[in-house]
Amino acid sequence: MSDRELMAKIVSLAKRRGFIFQSSEVYGGLNSCYDYGPLGVELKNRVKELWMNAMVREHENIKPLDSSILMHPKIWEASGHVANFSDPLIDCKTCKARFRADQLESSVCGQKPSKKPGECDGELTPPRNFNLMFKTFMGPLEDASAQVYLRPETAQGIYVNFLNVMNASRQKIPFGIAQIGKAFRNEINPGNFVFRMREFEQMEMQYFVKEGTDMEAFEFWKEKRIQWHYSIGLKKNKLQFHQHGPKELAHYAKAAFDIQYEFPFGWQEIEGVHHRSDFDLKQHEKFSGKKLAVFDQEAKTSYVPFIIETSVGADRATLTLLVDAYDEEVVQGDAEEGGPRVVLRFAPHVAPVKIGILPLMKKEPLVERSRKIFETLRKHWNVEYDESASIGKRYRRLDEVGAPFAVTVDFETDGVTIRERDSMKQSRVADSQLLAWFQERLET
Ligand code: GAP
Repeated sequence: MSDRELMAKIVSLAKRRGFIFQSSEVYGGLNSCYDYGPLGVELKNRVKELWMNAMVREHENIKPLDSSILMHPKIWEASGHVANFSDPLIDCKTCKARFRADQLESSVCGQKPSKKPGECDGELTPPRNFNLMFKTFMGPLEDASAQVYLRPETAQGIYVNFLNVMNASRQKIPFGIAQIGKAFRNEINPGNFVFRMREFEQMEMQYFVKEGTDMEAFEFWKEKRIQWHYSIGLKKNKLQFHQHGPKELAHYAKAAFDIQYEFPFGWQEIEGVHHRSDFDLKQHEKFSGKKLAVFDQEAKTSYVPFIIETSVGADRATLTLLVDAYDEEVVQGDAEEGGPRVVLRFAPHVAPVKIGILPLMKKEPLVERSRKIFETLRKHWNVEYDESASIGKRYRRLDEVGAPFAVTVDFETDGVTIRERDSMKQSRVADSQLLAWFQERLET
């Protein structure tokens, strides 16, 4: 199977089983915008919960924040986004397609996909800078004085609240602020499903440290973050660090690493770990006229902390999980089921559906007993009850959504059969022992 076919299969499964839909599909779709269906919501929520647990619950000096999307427009002048958050854009005068000038080599002509832009007789414009921030207006007047931006990153909301959080939660340096929220970028070349969108969600943590301890904190977070990706079950050999060279580094940054994953469309960034120095806080001091310094009790002086940032897309992490989990396996019974078994091999603690409850037949007393088990287990996890179609088909449906366990209720009264997704191994467990059996496997 080619990489392109693999990606097409994942996109198709995501739609078929209710993970991710094209936004506004009935109107022909809205490019680069996607909606999460029932299982997509479960999976992405799990990603966000695991991130919050790893950042906030496990560190008593990291506190959560939920800042607003619309912020004072001066914030984006201070951060450098108004002046610099742009991509060089090239238009084809012939077919009207648009390309990023710095990605021309890897772009394809919209009309002749075997050629690169410019190789196809099309006439290209010189590059011009295109700011990626979405603009809107606050209040009834649509003039420059009312213009505000949809935030292109959540980080700035943290910087301008840094003293509020520090004082309110009685923190001292070093401490961090963690935030999950929507960000918007008018990307020139969105694509690869939810990998690059114009509306997406970020999970960002900003760690405030004293200069001199900054490199140690940077190394600490770099290691912590790759461990988190391992902990959600991603294959280790598909993850790597990429260090930013001098040309990639932002002008204020001291160091930066991307955590990359090997997607069917190549090695790509899923998270950035950035050493942002004291640039952001000093810029906000300059533009707001307010002090954003902390007092050092020992040295009896004030200083502006350095910032170590970890920034990962919730959508990108969700896509990574789907890609990493996708598998096709040739097994006995394929002929009756219409082809190889498709399995999403999510780690059990990540899986959006944990257990399927299947009465062997749609008959009493099996249905009543199955519903009773379902009612008990659904209080603890997302559990699906399914009584339609053959048992083989129902196992396949559960495999496709990555449910690690299926419970089959038959006429035997000594217990039920539990089938494990990956090994397809079956074991008998007494009804009264079921809750404890799953707690051991799903919660430890
Ligand atoms: N505050 C730093 C920052 O925003 P970034 O490298 O531009 O850094 C961080 O973005 C992460 O946000 C990326 O690693 C990616 O996971 C996610 N991300 C960025 N742009 C995205 C887009 N257009 N669609 C989906 N996710 C995106």
